[in-house]
Amino acid sequence: TVIGVLASGRGSNLQAIIDAIQAGRLDAKIGVVISDNPEANVLKRMAGVDIQALCIDRRLFASRRQFEDAVAEELAIHHVELVVLAGFMRILSQYFIDRFAGKIMNIHPSLLPAFPGENAQAQALAYGVKVTGCTVHFVDAGMDTGPIILQEAVPVLGTDTVETLSERILHAEHILYPRALALYCAGRLTAAGRHVNIIDKE
Ligand code: GRF
Repeated sequence: TVIGVLASGRGSNLQAIIDAIQAGRLDAKIGVVISDNPEANVLKRMAGVDIQALCIDRRLFASRRQFEDAVAEELAIHHVELVVLAGFMRILSQYFIDRFAGKIMNIHPSLLPAFPGENAQAQALAYGVKVTGCTVHFVDAGMDTGPIILQEAVPVLGTDTVETLSERILHAEHILYPRALALYCAGRLTAAGRHVNIIDKE
């Protein structure tokens, strides 16, 4: 499966995906990495790596539609079959989502539907939950509302700050995202409405 990664920032989940491919845990190829942010660390990370990476700067487009068309065109050029959001900080429109129906995944640092949107770790701390985690889900037009693929629980400790909690969740993310992608690439995910089922290995 050829995947296209959209990322706006640090790129540690992308790194975990690259590592999983190299280790033979994920049978996929990264066709292209696209960032909407020219300053993104994820692009610096790609500098010495043999993977196509480029920036499509939202600010250079008059409308979201034109920006999304440029992204979709680049994904098509690289024959991308699955779009992987890894710290992509923009909401995709219904228009874009329809073009890749059922073929866009995201990872979010909470146990959805709790704490959607930005600063999920701070939201969890402020609420006082004892357990949070991370969620890999298919993307729909809502904010972190799409069908859930995998989740991993992470404890919240009394001594946690946003930084320590985020780090613990991030560690779980780096294991969970490649696992979800591997299931997809092995054809082991089936979706029936909101429900994603995992087919057992024969
Ligand atoms: C992760 O916490 C992810 O859950 C959220 O954005 C962050 C991206 O981190 N969607 P990185 O860029 O992969 O390091």
